[in-house]
Amino acid sequence: MKTYLVTGGCGFIGSNFIHYMFRTYGETIRIVNVDALTYAGNPENLKDVENSPNYRFVRADICDKEAIRRVFAEEDVDVVVHFAAESHVDRSIVQPELFVQTNVLGTANMLNCAREQWNDGDGTFREGRRFVHVSTDEVYGSLPEDPDAYFYETTPYAPHSPYSASKAGSDMLVRSYMDTYRFPANITNCSNNYGPYQFPEKLIPLMINNALNGRSLPVYGDGRNVRDWLYVEDHCRAIDLVIHKAELFETYNVGGHNEKQNIEIVKTIIEVLREELPETDPRREKIGEDLITYVEDRKGHDRRYAIAPDKIHRDLGWEPKTMFREGIRKTIRWYFENMDWMERVTSGDYMKYYDAMYGGRKEI
Ligand code: NAD
Ligand code: TYD
Repeated sequence: MKTYLVTGGCGFIGSNFIHYMFRTYGETIRIVNVDALTYAGNPENLKDVENSPNYRFVRADICDKEAIRRVFAEEDVDVVVHFAAESHVDRSIVQPELFVQTNVLGTANMLNCAREQWNDGDGTFREGRRFVHVSTDEVYGSLPEDPDAYFYETTPYAPHSPYSASKAGSDMLVRSYMDTYRFPANITNCSNNYGPYQFPEKLIPLMINNALNGRSLPVYGDGRNVRDWLYVEDHCRAIDLVIHKAELFETYNVGGHNEKQNIEIVKTIIEVLREELPETDPRREKIGEDLITYVEDRKGHDRRYAIAPDKIHRDLGWEPKTMFREGIRKTIRWYFENMDWMERVTSGDYMKYYDAMYGGRKEI
């Protein structure tokens, strides 16, 4: 039985990945989920698997050497899938040190502990061990509006935000371990994900939640920044393919060829919400484009991201399966069916975060 150590499994992509893996491989795999449960981690995301004998949750910080060593000593880990990170650009602008701590030093600790445990003593690693480092396209910086410009695996790194700089730092560490120790790893650099369980600090769930609560929809700057959106399940399938089919040491860009301006995203959410809400629902009439409010731009706001997913398509046969409008509809339906989830994650400190982040922004 293959044992996976998933870090950050209580977050958005990590919890989708754990569900995906159990759906795909059932009881033939074991998953150990290491998560510190920051504001972004929610064990409720995994309540349907928490009693499975093939699943174990360990609450630990990836920076904690002793705790991570212990997990490696207790479990015969075949594959690490490393998601745990601070992931929100706006927060990184306010608290850059935390991003260096978790994303750079936490990754260094994960690499060290895996190397220590997996090393056969003669500098080699046993067949089948693999460390998949889950990263972002934001490490490549910002593209011009020229529609023929894309991020390739060979594009030089040029991060602009403390978030992307800290992820770039973590990628460089993984590269250095591959080059120096022949440490068995892969890196994936994915575009913006959306789907179930995404915390409502990110564009899509924030807009869904605000619209349903009759709050304004804060669009940064001119609303024409472009992101390349991918339904989270397509990302999970890409990681699964990398684990099972990729040559070690390869890096893969993962993206949907689905570039959209932020303002288009917000308008699509308004339309689909109105289509999905019953006519009798009083919220329906209040949801419209008049809720859109242009607010002060994010500092250092990257203009455009766009992935060329040619390599993963060619080598592993991956391509996205979920069309954008279908993915948005599935996402909106998920939030409708899980309004209690949304209410729980937005109670407590969420409104303090919201007021601090948006209260200080001027309308433009
Ligand atoms: P998320 O913020 O939803 O979840 C992060 C998880 O990591 C949470 O469960 C949190 O509790 C945990 N965590 C944070 N600090 C930790 C620490 N010190 N020790 C242990 N656990 C810790 O993030 P996400 O959107 O699911 O992203 C997961 C990974 O994918 C990140 O590495 C991110 O950079 C990368 N990524 C995200 C996107 C995206 O669009 N969300 C796109 C490409 C890549
Ligand atoms: P986000 O979901 O934070 O992802 P990232 O910054 O990692 O790409 O933001 C996506 C885009 O939406 C980005 O260009 C910033 C913009 N945005 C808004 O216009 N308003 C918002 O309230 C948020 C959270 C984001």
